[in-house]
Amino acid sequence: MPESQFTLKVFRFDPDMDTTHRYDSFTVPLREGMTVLEALFYVLEEKDPSLAFRYACRGAVCGSCAMHINGSNRLACQTQIVNLKATEAQVSPLPYLPLIKDLVVEMASFYQKMDEVQPYLITHKTPPEKEYLQSPRERKKLDSVTDCIWCAACYSACPVVWGDPEYLGPAALVKAHRFSVDSRDQGGMERLKATDSEEGLWRCHTVFNCVEVCPKEINQTEAIEGLRRRTLKRRLGWK
Ligand code: F3S
Repeated sequence: MPESQFTLKVFRFDPDMDTTHRYDSFTVPLREGMTVLEALFYVLEEKDPSLAFRYACRGAVCGSCAMHINGSNRLACQTQIVNLKATEAQVSPLPYLPLIKDLVVEMASFYQKMDEVQPYLITHKTPPEKEYLQSPRERKKLDSVTDCIWCAACYSACPVVWGDPEYLGPAALVKAHRFSVDSRDQGGMERLKATDSEEGLWRCHTVFNCVEVCPKEINQTEAIEGLRRRTLKRRLGWK
C-alpha cells in the first residue's frame, strides 16, 4: 500500500499556560493498520514532545487510552485510522470528566463510583479448602459482562451522568450486575445499598449511549434492567 498522509487534529490545553483550549493540526504519514494511538505517538516523537495522553497495554485491555475520536468515545489503540473513513481525525479528551492536560482526564470520580459497588467477590461463609467451584452454566451467566476494562467510555457518554454528578453511571451498575449474577458471591445486600437508590439503578433513563460506545460490546442497558429485576424480587422477598 503506497504511503499516504492524513491530518490529526488534537485538542490541546495546558492549565499552566493556556486560558482556553485549541486544536493543533498535524500531518501524519499513514501506513497500513495504523491506529489513532500510533498516530499520537508519531506526533509525540516527531512533532511535539509536550503532547499528553494516556496509554498502557496498546491492546484494548487496560482501558487507558479511551478518548473522543471523530464524534464518539473509543479506545485509541483499537481504532484504525482507515476505519474512520475520513481524511482527518479529530481527537479530544473524554467528555464530562475534568481535564488535566491535553487528552488526559481526571478519573477519580469514576473510580470512586466503581468502588461504591464493591467490585469484587464478597463471601460470608468459610471459604472452601481449594477454589470455589462453578458449573459451566453458572459461568455462562457472566459471559456478557466480565469484559469491562474500566475505560469510562460509557460513563462519559451518558447524558444522565452529565446532568447529575451523583449518578453511579453504567460502568458501576454493570459491575454490580456482574457480581450479583455470580454464583460464588454473597454480597447482594451490601451492593444493594449503593445501587437501589435514586442515584443508582433507578436514575438510568435507558438512553443507550453507553451501549453504542462500549469497546467491549457490553450491553449496559440490559445489565441495568437485569439488576432492576433482581432488586424488585429482593424487595418483594422473592429472592
Ligand atoms: Fe446512561 Fe446508558 Fe442508562 S447512557 S441513561 S446508563 S442506558
